[in-house]
Amino acid sequence: MKIGIIGTGYVGLVTAVGLAEFGHLVTGTDSEVDKIEKASQGISHIYESDLESLLKKNLKKGKLTFSQDLDKTILSSDVLFVCVNTPQREDGSADMSFVEAVSRKIAENLNHYKLVVEKSTVPVRTSMWINRTISLYKKSDVPFDIASNPEFLREGSAVSDFLNPDRIIIGVESKKAREIMLKIYEKFKDRVLITNIDTAELIKHASNSFLALKISYINLMSEMCERTDADVGLVAKGMGLDPRIGAQFLRAGLGYGGSCFPKDIRALTKIGEDMGVNMNLLMEADRINLERIGVFVEKVKKALWILKDKKIAILGLSFKPETDDIREAPSIRVIKELQEGGSLLRLYDPEAIENMKAVFPEDPPQITYAQSAYEAAKGANALLLITEWDEFRNLDLKKLKNLMDNPIIVDGRNIFEPEEVRKLGFEYYSLGRK
Ligand code: UDX
Repeated sequence: MKIGIIGTGYVGLVTAVGLAEFGHLVTGTDSEVDKIEKASQGISHIYESDLESLLKKNLKKGKLTFSQDLDKTILSSDVLFVCVNTPQREDGSADMSFVEAVSRKIAENLNHYKLVVEKSTVPVRTSMWINRTISLYKKSDVPFDIASNPEFLREGSAVSDFLNPDRIIIGVESKKAREIMLKIYEKFKDRVLITNIDTAELIKHASNSFLALKISYINLMSEMCERTDADVGLVAKGMGLDPRIGAQFLRAGLGYGGSCFPKDIRALTKIGEDMGVNMNLLMEADRINLERIGVFVEKVKKALWILKDKKIAILGLSFKPETDDIREAPSIRVIKELQEGGSLLRLYDPEAIENMKAVFPEDPPQITYAQSAYEAAKGANALLLITEWDEFRNLDLKKLKNLMDNPIIVDGRNIFEPEEVRKLGFEYYSLGRK
């Protein structure tokens, strides 16, 4: 069975490498020549642990190849995983034009039976449109099937998530499609849930939106804690001890970012509304999340009074630790607000500096980049913690304090123990606790 992966972005590249690692013959293709050239040389265009070594290994074994030729990849594949992106449009809905374009290409190159697998996150009912598009544009009577196989990998642990998944959701509507999908995931028979296609599509959006909801919920509780003597860390701990609730995704702070949660919750809201369902619950979760930045910046103002000309160290730029991805990162909106306030910002992140330079080019004295957390802190009037990299948890706080002009920390991820930092002489602010 030959597998073609269309789109070698985050999900596509990991899927290509993962399926090759399972022993399948895989070809990855992408419209961006640069990505294909790099991948062919064993270079990953994303920062993800183990990805490059497995990429190299499977290229060498001949299990994995990359091609710039989409037509050829389609013609020579039995199964096609569609991994193109579905960016957010202005009204919140998912832009499906890449999926449509790929569907037309598949139709034009339908030389023998193919199974088309939706791997990208798509709105429920998308398979109906793919089916219609292929049927409209195909030139022969060659049969095809569609399957939905949503991907749940997290950035930072994408490879291990793919190689050791909690569950494999397979949405199929024919026996043949079901057999092929079960063969691809033979290793994980015990973790497969087979549904119809609409259900599989909805499981992906429903899962991400639920997790986003959970984060906004604890952030709402964080607001209650701010106004009382309650501590949001302990509220989360107490709630999480109930196995029905679970302890994960209850970390209060600056809220969620990344390429999935903000986009998916809006896309699900939009598609639900279009179907006449009241989606206010999800809209509120999104609103609470966006509000987190304002709450955080208010704390900075409370500490500094006037933002103009204040030297501020910003630690953490990626949307979460262990990735260089800055898509929808809370740091971007914090930086914008402080920049507008006239602060002088010195930014540091272990991996995301290059990506952030494309959004905020170096512009001294207002925006500069540091080589380390200590360098960022030097002479600062305040230090803001935006992303909870372990490197920051392990900082030598005494050293940090000596470097700063004013020992003020505003911690957007509650990584420090208030009592400990205050004992060292810092003025310390965090979210949802005293
Ligand atoms: C998410 C899903 O977890 C994954 O299953 C899906 O395939 C893609 O979207 P990802 O975006 O990589 O993965 O990151 P995740 O670890 O889920 O974190 C998302 C955001 O939520 C981050 O900004 C993180 O900082 C934030 N978060 C997470 C919180 O603010 N609090 C928490 O308790 C957990």
